[in-house]
Amino acid sequence: MKIFVPVERLDGEPRVAVTPDTVKKFIGLGCAVSVETGAGAGAHISDAAFADAGAKIAKTSKQAAKAADIVLKVLRPTPEEAKGYKKGALVVGILDPYSNMAGLKALAKAGVSAFAMELMPRITRAQSMDVLSSQSNLAGYKAVIDAAAEFDRAMPMMMTAAGTIAPARVFIMGAGVAGLQAIATARRLGAIVSATDVRAVAAEQVESLGATFVMVESDDEDGGQTAGGYAKEMSDDYKARQAELVAETIKKQDIVICTALIPGRPAPTLVSKAMVESMKPGSIVVDLAVERGGNCPLSKPGKVVVHKDVTIMGHVNVAGRLAVDASNLYARNLFNFLSPMFEGTNGKFKIDWEDETVTGTALMRDGKLIHPLLKASNKE
Ligand code: NAI
Repeated sequence: MKIFVPVERLDGEPRVAVTPDTVKKFIGLGCAVSVETGAGAGAHISDAAFADAGAKIAKTSKQAAKAADIVLKVLRPTPEEAKGYKKGALVVGILDPYSNMAGLKALAKAGVSAFAMELMPRITRAQSMDVLSSQSNLAGYKAVIDAAAEFDRAMPMMMTAAGTIAPARVFIMGAGVAGLQAIATARRLGAIVSATDVRAVAAEQVESLGATFVMVESDDEDGGQTAGGYAKEMSDDYKARQAELVAETIKKQDIVICTALIPGRPAPTLVSKAMVESMKPGSIVVDLAVERGGNCPLSKPGKVVVHKDVTIMGHVNVAGRLAVDASNLYARNLFNFLSPMFEGTNGKFKIDWEDETVTGTALMRDGKLIHPLLKASNKE
């Protein structure tokens, strides 16, 4: 099998889909790997490092893309890239199945099969393939580091001869993968941390990290989550009670880290303009949900804005701001997903289309949109 890894074309994406370590592993399975020159630059991986690992360095993407049986991507290929792929090739990446249907159709038109890694089912066996977890974990860490860097005060309590500095108060909204890492990071920096979530099961996880859990009780028996373990959209009554509690909590905080998401839907609005205005001068809001509409209506994608002396940080692709670690983990997620499909070490490759990790992530098979999320689009 020939694997090709191009330079990411979209939005200055700094991550790369393979590392020298995974290149060696794919070669060990009998693959030939080509990497487009400069593909690792954003993650500080040189062409020489890839070549040392056994990869061929492609001067341009054209020939290598056309020859590839498998194209490993971080983000969805552009329609121009898709046109250059071989019919029947396999494309694996974070393919953003919820938006830009035209872009997905362009990919399908190329006659490829494509797997969207962000749809990986949350089953125990697939934990090592879970790109949302690997990337959100880093984003949660970086959000706190970004906030601390912008904050004009210290995070921990300091008792000095000149007086005592009070510890910062950090409130984390959404205690999933990013939120839990944000809690752990803020705690390590010495802050007093509290967190909220709609999923009742998050309480124990939050408390085990030494933070206080703040939550509105749900009347539903499902504990605020779907069978897949994700948050569900809450009732209007719940939202009103939650807004009241959040308003009370937020005005006492120095830093608010927003991580709340609902798969396939816009991010819930949790921190209103009035709530931001109730915060102390110099406070910080980091909105990790900004790319999906944001938890705070004042946040702007890719911008740091100041509203009435509160800084609202809307960095996009926050995991990409730790491109080295993000690429390392992402590349391993891809390898862990694909390696069971190889039989032995002679490059023989077979997709089990019944396997849960495949049915969960397969958006298209030989150009036909097959995922339940997209099937309706076939008829359009
Ligand atoms: P996510 O990124 O979809 O959402 C982030 C957090 O926001 C979630 O905890 C969610 O409950 C919360 N949220 C959504 N709406 C909210 C609202 N209105 N107010 C407050 N909070 C709100 O979720 P993520 O981080 O991907 O994790 C979801 C669950 O999946 C977690 O329980 C996590 O532990 C679990 N998980 C399981 C894995 C496995 O078994 N393979 C792997 C990774 C995560």
